[in-house]
Amino acid sequence: CGIVGYVGSQQALGIVIEGLRRMEYRGYDSAGIAVVDRSGADARLAGAKKAGKLANLEKELDVRPLPASTTGLGHTRWATHGGPTDANAHPHFSESAGVYTDLTGKVAVIHNGIIENFARLKAELAAENVTFLSETDTEVVAHLLARDFAEAGDGDLGAAMRRVVNRLQGAFTLVAVHADAPDVVVGARRNSPLVIGVGQGEAFLASDVSAFIAHTREAIEMGQDQVAEIFRDGSVRITTFDGQVVEGKRFHVSWDASAAEKGGYDWFMQKEIAEQPQAVADTLLGRVNGQGRLKLDEMRLSEDELRAITKIIVVACGTAYHAGLIAKYAIEHWTRVPVEVELASEFRYRDPILTKDTLVIAISQSGETMDTLMAIRHAREQHSRVLAICNTNGSTIPRESDAVVYTHGGPEIGVASTKAFLTQLTACYLVGLYLAQVRGVKFNDEVEEVLTQLSDSPAAIAETLNRMEPIRKLARSMVGARTVLFLGRHVGYPMALEGALKLKELAYIHAEGFAAGELKHGPIALIEQDLPVVVVVPSPKRPLLHDKIVSNIQEIRARGAKTIVIAEDGDDVVAPYADFLFHVPELPILLQPLVATVPLQVFAAELADALGYDVDQPRNLAKSVTVE
Ligand code: G6P
Repeated sequence: CGIVGYVGSQQALGIVIEGLRRMEYRGYDSAGIAVVDRSGADARLAGAKKAGKLANLEKELDVRPLPASTTGLGHTRWATHGGPTDANAHPHFSESAGVYTDLTGKVAVIHNGIIENFARLKAELAAENVTFLSETDTEVVAHLLARDFAEAGDGDLGAAMRRVVNRLQGAFTLVAVHADAPDVVVGARRNSPLVIGVGQGEAFLASDVSAFIAHTREAIEMGQDQVAEIFRDGSVRITTFDGQVVEGKRFHVSWDASAAEKGGYDWFMQKEIAEQPQAVADTLLGRVNGQGRLKLDEMRLSEDELRAITKIIVVACGTAYHAGLIAKYAIEHWTRVPVEVELASEFRYRDPILTKDTLVIAISQSGETMDTLMAIRHAREQHSRVLAICNTNGSTIPRESDAVVYTHGGPEIGVASTKAFLTQLTACYLVGLYLAQVRGVKFNDEVEEVLTQLSDSPAAIAETLNRMEPIRKLARSMVGARTVLFLGRHVGYPMALEGALKLKELAYIHAEGFAAGELKHGPIALIEQDLPVVVVVPSPKRPLLHDKIVSNIQEIRARGAKTIVIAEDGDDVVAPYADFLFHVPELPILLQPLVATVPLQVFAAELADALGYDVDQPRNLAKSVTVE
């Protein structure tokens, strides 16, 4: 979601709307705004919010204009919890007459994240006769803030925010205004980003600098668990959640406004690759509890239904299909339920064997891919259960499924899928582990350990991203390549397919992925002097697999291939056979795709850019293909 707050001497409305427009890439399910109205005797709030794109909100504001104001905030939403409706749109208010232009509430709050203990807080407020207008967790914060501010009676909104955030669990970035504190806008950050813009006699709070870059290039980065108060005179105070004053990290923004929507990255895909640690963390958020147990709130299938499953079929297209191929290794290993993986476009035409005890898992970023939709319709006609793994709230595939597990990857704009892929994998792992938990199969130390490692994986992905420079250099040195082969074993095989797909999609270079063991049965005939071959090597902790792939690398090297090897930290056995060696952090083999796919993505994107191609919108492709 995109967040903007403003206080100063200019009209807040225009500044906030313009900021939201620049941040629409962060989500465009709904948008809303609130300003402090000081025109009457009593300061009050005025606001508007609308489902759909920002243009809908602007139309609403044309019909029902807001009063002039120099303090305000706005939000553009990517719905995860609670559908994209007017009522669920942000801001949320501490009280409302129901007509959003005539608010009686004193507090308006916008929020990015999930407040995990909101049910308990909501019950506490309901016991005090607070009525709620939305299904969101955010509304709870508005009420808590209004109550705390009133009780303290000191007019200090920053202090009230600090007391409230100390009661919240989960991940949240919040910005709030109060009608009785019209000279300040307060923000709190835990997890998703919040930056401060410092102008002359004005200040801004936003999810990224693009929201205010037209007004100021002086910015302050907020750390985790900090509260910022920005004041009308342009001054700023930052404190920790317990009130210690801290110095924020000041920086000057050098890039221009047009790059800003991409948050300073050259292309959306680059940005989306960089967002992967956060995307995976967001997908795990609230689903793994401290005791190594899992809960999947949107899993509408009962435990009995899940126990009755005798077979799983994964259906998907493109990159999502590759996530499904990896899921098979994990789900079968953890649950002992047989898993088939099928291209959605092939599925219904071959008369698949489906019963009511078959679980069909449909993986789709967009939730609109026609091939996948037709596959699940067929499965449901045959009385099978369908579970969707999807990134888009309220899209067709989850709507037509029996159950859904959302990937909280946020909007993906680059046509070639990156962060959606890693979050799809994450969701598949969660589903596999959940099935193991429910079915009581092997829910033993190993699965608990995997959950811990899964929780650590965002850090490992971030570490992988830090190492990317040599991959970029390598890619730029390979603009003359005509063919690139990719090899892997075990989960390395689907990764090889994904690496090859990325290169085809983005750089228009002929690429193929093979199971390394299959090489000798045919593809090895393709190897010739200097042919680049990318090999994904499994952990040396799996000696059987590892030894075999080392032999495969030797076989191709002996025939002249130029070997580009992705191996685990500490694996130096492969070094003598690698023309280029890249190390990824250690993770158990089933989770290795979370880190080892990243260099393949960067390699393809960088090579495409070096060739002068449009990385975000490759020729002939569409982000969401709604024809069969
Ligand atoms: C299109 C996109 C691919 C994507 C596939 C499946 O072909 O270009 O990047 O992997 O659709 O999309 P979905 O939204 O169902 O995951």
